[in-house]
Amino acid sequence: MMTDSTLLDVMRMRKSIRSFQKQPLSSKHIDLISQYINNEENLIGPFGEKGKIELVSVTNNVSDKGIKLGTYGMIKNPQAYLVGITENNKQSLLDFGYVFQKLILLLTQHGIGTCWMGGTFNRNSFEKEIPLIDKKFIPCITPIGYPHEKQRVLDKALRFAVKADNKKPWDQLFFDENFETSLTDAKAEIIKIPIEMVRLGPSASNKQPWRLVINANKTICHFFIEQTPNYSTKLGYDMQLLDMGIAMCQFDSACRELGIDGQWKVVDPEIDTPNELTKYIVSWKSTSLFS
Ligand SMILES: Cc1cc2nc3c(=O)[nH]c(=O)nc-3n(C[C@H](O)[C@H](O)[C@H](O)COP(=O)(O)O)c2cc1C
Repeated sequence: MMTDSTLLDVMRMRKSIRSFQKQPLSSKHIDLISQYINNEENLIGPFGEKGKIELVSVTNNVSDKGIKLGTYGMIKNPQAYLVGITENNKQSLLDFGYVFQKLILLLTQHGIGTCWMGGTFNRNSFEKEIPLIDKKFIPCITPIGYPHEKQRVLDKALRFAVKADNKKPWDQLFFDENFETSLTDAKAEIIKIPIEMVRLGPSASNKQPWRLVINANKTICHFFIEQTPNYSTKLGYDMQLLDMGIAMCQFDSACRELGIDGQWKVVDPEIDTPNELTKYIVSWKSTSLFS
């Protein structure tokens, strides 16, 4: 039943799940995940960088190797973890955000709960479980399992603390030709649903750092980041670049569903930014014949 939902529905209903049922994942679902993460095509992002995703089953948070994987009590009854692995540079992180979100949407479509985690897990325990080579590191993980219907008090408190249900309104995220004018949904035309999907996406601490500037005929969408000062400095990587990759994935998935063709390109957008924290990332350009 769930698999009939369109990706737009999936993006509208997805939310972070931190409590799971005790029921293990079905072998059908394990196969689906294994096949997906073993297909190289699914691991390459729009910039061409390739990441890796490992599936680790757990029983009472202990892996088959006997390693205790910790999430500081944040996650109840996870049945497995998906562990992200990539290099610590801008393009790799953008690409990995994109790639991991695509998998999250697939899982949501199949009724499997997820929660992006970049901070509140014990990285050491996961690094023990998965030996890393070259310059690779673990940017994020997600617990997986079937969602527990009732949220725990802790889940509710956490959602309240990060204002998880508080998605920024259009006028703070989307702009018309320049940062001085907000783009209203009445004027967004063909781009309305793709950018609405960006707005609904998950982000680290729900900071929603994405800022989009759209050109007059809605054929170009420039993606900027408004960085939260010192956000993940202590962790040694820029977690908000994952948020930008997620935005690209949400946007792309919507376009694909709506039959809008386009491509990603890094250009000089020639747009004045409102402050020093706002930086250009990438642009999407429509290649549809009739746009
Ligand atoms: C890159 C990234 C890192 C995140 N890290 C954590 C984390 O360490 N712990 C956690 O409980 N949630 C984490 N989250 C989940 C966010 O808090 C959540 O997406 C946000 O509050 C919006 O809620 P929603 O996903 O239900 O829409 C992270 C999300 C993203 C995108």
